[in-house]
Amino acid sequence: MSDSQQAREHWSSNLGFILAAAGSAVGLGNIWKFPYITGQNGGGAFVLVYLACIAVIGLPVMLCELAMGRRTQKNPVGAFKKLTPASSTLAHLIGGLVVLTGFCLLPFQQYGWGVMMVLLGGAIFRYSWVVVGAMGVLAGFTILSFYSVVAGWTIGYIWKAVTGQLNFSTVEVAASHFGHFITNPGWAIGCHAIFMLLCMVIVYKGVQSGIEYWSKILMPVLFLLLVALIIRGVTLPGAMAGVEFYLKPDFSKINTNSVLQALGHAFFTLSLGMGAITTYGSYVDRKQNLFLASLSIAGLDTLIALMAGLAIFPAVFAQGFQPNAGPGLVFQVLPTVFNQIPLGSLWAAIFFFLLLVAALTSGISLLEVITAYFIDEKQWSRARATIVFGIVIFLLGCLSAVSVAGWENIEWLHRLLVAVFGSVKGSFFDVMDNLSSNWMLPLGGLFISLFVGWIWGTKNAMAEIRHGSANFADVHLFSLLAGLKDDQAYNAEFHVLTLASLWGVFIRFISPFAVLIAFFYTVGWLKLS
Ligand code: TRP
Repeated sequence: MSDSQQAREHWSSNLGFILAAAGSAVGLGNIWKFPYITGQNGGGAFVLVYLACIAVIGLPVMLCELAMGRRTQKNPVGAFKKLTPASSTLAHLIGGLVVLTGFCLLPFQQYGWGVMMVLLGGAIFRYSWVVVGAMGVLAGFTILSFYSVVAGWTIGYIWKAVTGQLNFSTVEVAASHFGHFITNPGWAIGCHAIFMLLCMVIVYKGVQSGIEYWSKILMPVLFLLLVALIIRGVTLPGAMAGVEFYLKPDFSKINTNSVLQALGHAFFTLSLGMGAITTYGSYVDRKQNLFLASLSIAGLDTLIALMAGLAIFPAVFAQGFQPNAGPGLVFQVLPTVFNQIPLGSLWAAIFFFLLLVAALTSGISLLEVITAYFIDEKQWSRARATIVFGIVIFLLGCLSAVSVAGWENIEWLHRLLVAVFGSVKGSFFDVMDNLSSNWMLPLGGLFISLFVGWIWGTKNAMAEIRHGSANFADVHLFSLLAGLKDDQAYNAEFHVLTLASLWGVFIRFISPFAVLIAFFYTVGWLKLS
């Protein structure tokens, strides 16, 4: 059973790795969320802000995760274990502070939070940075459990499209249909089960013949379907109004909130902050250029997100619907739009299939983090890890699936949560989403950059990144941009502004600071205009 001592399986090619990592990044976040937040936040202007966030935070943190994974050849917990020094004052300090805060909460009768913080602080004190890796594995459970529920809805909607049930005359009818669908436990749980099963089958097959093999098939399929939908959308009469709404920059709509929304989304969409990219990085060969890889992954992710908006808004405008439906856009407005155009059921089926493909390549990356942890650290076999934790996540997800109908079905869970935390906002689904997207991922990202910047050290990390990208990392940035990177005359020994030095500055100062501000703002500890 102990296969961890044998040679670790690696991606068979650079392309396979990039498609798998891009597959992890491209998901519901790109096709469902990015278009509607862009639509709400000033179109092209928001895209610019978002690109800046990808550059300032996304790329530097992605490089950290890839470097940690490739250096250690381990899952996130194993990676932190290997790189954490025997004693870290910073970790002791943070652990101590968290314990203290926990104790301070007790007199205010915040027992749940208090006890949790004391335990967490104690864990940080004892295990120091390894706790960040553990939080990543835990985030894998939380995210996949509700992600799979939404992915399940897309399976239901493919079936409905194929059988011609998406024939809504108005958005109101579509909305009520959607409401009935997601609150029907049979459908919700059934579709969630199918999605988890698909993830399990692929992850069970392993890195090369599971994840890489399927990413190489599914990513081109995704691209082609998206192109087909864009062509269909923009050739409808009146479609240009949609393109204009989506991409015409409106700087008056940009405010602090949109900047922070872009920042938070940058993490989720690039699969950062919980070790998914660390895990994928552990299967990367030393010959590969990590700089170019992270640029390609982020580039593909952004490209697909932008394309998704072009597939959606022109069609919405052409048929005279409102673009600002927010989260309901995809499941309520779009089916109604498709219902009005020739071969509508076919287009709807194509769209929901696209959404499923995107979700699947992301789902497998989440399950792989947990699987890799149990293979590396607990010497489980891959088969046992995927089956056991696929089922555990399925069960956890069932709670999310039935919770959207209200707490009535799971009153015991509600009472438990209220008893521990005092109050609960939204459904269990919302709790899981909020916990992972607003807490675990930003904190994970923050601590990953602090760890690489100050504890493992940019010097050690850069030594790893240089394998495969030396003359890329250390050439003067202007020479690189000018295409003169191999021209010695321009590169001398003076390493002034190189990609390596730029990355170091970002990861030590700029990225952690930006994430911290965004985190304080989202959890309400900081109020900005
Ligand atoms: N990036 C995916 C999306 O945009 C979701 C995802 C997959 C993810 N793996 C992740 C998010 C790891 C955070 C962490 O839909």
